[in-house]
Amino acid sequence: MLSTTATAARRTSVSILGAGTQGRRLAFMWSSRGNNVHLIDAQAHQLQASIQAVENFRASWSTADSEKGDIITHLPHELSAAVRDSWLVVECVPERLPLKQKILTQLDSVAPEDVIIASNSSSYSCGEILQGLKLKNKSRILSAHTSIEIMGHESTDAKHIDLMTSRCAAHGFDPFHVRSPSMGYLYNRIWAAIKREALLAAAEGAGTPEEIDAIFKGVLKTPKGPFEQMDVVGLDVVHDIEQHYADARGDIPSEPREYLRRYLEKGHLGVKSGKGFYDYGSPNRL
Ligand SMILES: NC(=O)c1ccc[n+]([C@@H]2O[C@H](COP(=O)([O-])OP(=O)(O)OC[C@H]3O[C@@H](n4cnc5c(N)ncnc54)[C@H](O)[C@@H]3O)[C@@H](O)[C@H]2O)c1
Repeated sequence: MLSTTATAARRTSVSILGAGTQGRRLAFMWSSRGNNVHLIDAQAHQLQASIQAVENFRASWSTADSEKGDIITHLPHELSAAVRDSWLVVECVPERLPLKQKILTQLDSVAPEDVIIASNSSSYSCGEILQGLKLKNKSRILSAHTSIEIMGHESTDAKHIDLMTSRCAAHGFDPFHVRSPSMGYLYNRIWAAIKREALLAAAEGAGTPEEIDAIFKGVLKTPKGPFEQMDVVGLDVVHDIEQHYADARGDIPSEPREYLRRYLEKGHLGVKSGKGFYDYGSPNRL
């Protein structure tokens, strides 16, 4: 491991806070060129399950041994040590604004000054999360979503966008720079509209989830339909994201959220709980 006094650009580890559906995917992705990942979560069982999930991803991608970085797990009381030797720390906690604000504030206080802090939120831009927060260094904060849209806020330093872009490309991602603050980035805005309209059609009784998925896959030749994909994401997460769009925009119909709540009330969260729109037999993570 490099010394903790190395500048961020020379460090190779990445820290990820939140080891759920997305955190464990990112742990796999950022460790896939042999670099170490520090994974932090409040729940020990999530950390254990993440190690298994990363193993599964590596098996299905036939990752060579030389490219398997270590996944080092931590509980939150070790946060400071867990971010010290990283060039990047990504928050991956649930889609709740007060929680995201608390976590970014903590990260700003413990991460060395030059470490990039990224939010993986699907619908809160980092500018929105930062509103009203008094932080030491907002210029190192940006949004980085999935694989990977990179978006700054009004005072993000361009050198951090450049470093993110080059490191993402070196890890085999296809980075896109979202040029102005955009709720839901680029891809997620489109995906939000697809989810909403699919849920609305089901809520109206125009088609069942199975029928809507079948027509979607038949026309677009994609491996999954919107309901199958929502089950993978997690219906609680889909609901939180849609609620945020509704709160922010005022032109969002309520029926898609009401339809989702029918499943949430029964504890049907999708693949992770074993049942969502479809039945998976037992809890799992993809
Ligand atoms: N699920 C997806 O497919 C997906 C895709 C892209 C982006 N995202 C985004 O990623 C974020 C996380 O979503 P997810 O689906 O992984 O959620 P999740 O519920 O599966 O996982 C969240 C994890 O955060 C942990 N956590 C909660 N509070 C914590 C705290 N204070 N300290 C440490 N750990 C804490 C939980 O224990 C849990 O393991 C959201 O912002 C979501 O929008 C999700």
